[in-house]
Amino acid sequence: MDGTIGVVGLGYIGLPLALCLCEKGYRVVGVDIDEDKVNELCRGRTTVSETLNGETLESILQRHLSSGRFIPTTHISVAAWEGRAYIVTVGVPVTKEGTLNEAPLLIAMEQLGKVLKPSDLVLVRSTVVPGMMEDKIIPRLREASQMTPGVDFHVAYAAERVAEGRALHEFQTLDVVLAGLTPQCAAKAADLLSHLTAGTIHVTDLRTAQLTKVIENVQRDVNIALAHQIKEIAEHHGVDVYELIRLANTHPRVRLLEPGIGVGGYCIPSAYAYLAASLPAGRTLPLLKLARGINETAPARTVERLAKQLIAVGKSLDECTIAILGLGMKDGSNDVRHSPALACAEHLLQRGAVVRAFDPTVPMQFPFQVSTLESCLYGADGVIVAAWQQAFEEFDLARALRMCRQPAVIVDLKHRLRRSLASDPSQREGELAWASRGVDR
Ligand SMILES: NC(=O)c1ccc[n+]([C@@H]2O[C@H](COP(=O)([O-])OP(=O)(O)OC[C@H]3O[C@@H](n4cnc5c(N)ncnc54)[C@H](O)[C@@H]3O)[C@@H](O)[C@H]2O)c1
Repeated sequence: MDGTIGVVGLGYIGLPLALCLCEKGYRVVGVDIDEDKVNELCRGRTTVSETLNGETLESILQRHLSSGRFIPTTHISVAAWEGRAYIVTVGVPVTKEGTLNEAPLLIAMEQLGKVLKPSDLVLVRSTVVPGMMEDKIIPRLREASQMTPGVDFHVAYAAERVAEGRALHEFQTLDVVLAGLTPQCAAKAADLLSHLTAGTIHVTDLRTAQLTKVIENVQRDVNIALAHQIKEIAEHHGVDVYELIRLANTHPRVRLLEPGIGVGGYCIPSAYAYLAASLPAGRTLPLLKLARGINETAPARTVERLAKQLIAVGKSLDECTIAILGLGMKDGSNDVRHSPALACAEHLLQRGAVVRAFDPTVPMQFPFQVSTLESCLYGADGVIVAAWQQAFEEFDLARALRMCRQPAVIVDLKHRLRRSLASDPSQREGELAWASRGVDR
């Protein structure tokens, strides 16, 4: 395998992947059409939040810019000067309404096809509509390159399975499901991946490989929806949903997830749309559609529950200030794409509440975002813990919560606040009782 790899797309997946390959000794030309992003990367700056052995992604980026092993560029031709293998991480975005946009990935394929050389390898790691490799991606590469895929150059597919926040570790440890257009394509891609991951490389056909990734994501969507329904059942019966799930999970064949604020990010919310688009018109997936609907409406249900609890303490939501802790699409993430915490903020604003949100990991970008925990909680009538960040552990939350306008309602969707408060040795009993009484999960 040649020592230079082109990574096409330098987003939440492509950038850490590129730098992980640099760590493995490869020279990587990273290509992205976003000029601002590339300029920032060239200056050694990124907001993508990953770490490897305690070192931040930004520090790894700066090391590999200095060593000359990482070259960010907007020109794919730079990658083609010395590269013989390309890893593609440009995605297929899905709007909130479920509309797919295949254009970015297909345009990237066209640009890549134009610079391909005989016997190059194209390894697509994007999550796609199952069938898109055969129907659109490979034909686009053929057209643009004027070469025969599988004969003149190699094409393979191995969807990325890592989770944001753990990417640098998981690139090197997770199993990979891989398919090549031909056995030679698969062998060439397996050789490249074997230098990256210690996990097993499972070789299958193209369609199965594309489906596997989407099925993995949709399984989580359905399981999270189930957790939300269990929460409603638990509430009706007046039992603690976390205790209920913990007990059920003591059965060896039960693996329930805990309910949170909904589902966000690029991957899980898109899975239903990818699967639906892969079926003929008129074929429905009622279970998956229902699960999507349950998860999509979870933030609105949180707001409704909060409004009722405020009424119970004599307050009206439209006259209240609500503090949101955590804006990331999930715990430990600063990615706000499709973040349910943002959906929650929108619902609160629509219902007339004043919203303040604090998340030290998310760059300031929303009008309701504040830069300190104190300015978020001061005078708040309600607190929603939407996503848990490690940084919250460093704050004196018990003290900060006393700044709320009492009686305040605390909706701890991450099941962390009570634990943090309880583990605070300086906590006086009376304060804990106040916090616990007000906590709804
Ligand atoms: N984010 C995750 O947690 C995650 C996890 C597993 C798999 N995935 C999958 O990985 C893929 C990438 O996801 P992401 O979160 O990194 O997306 P992203 O939007 O953060 O990154 C995609 C990048 O591609 C760039 N791009 C668009 N068109 C381009 C072109 N023609 N040439 C070069 N660059 C181009 C964009 O500017 C962007 O920087 C998606 O298919 C996604 O479903 C994501």
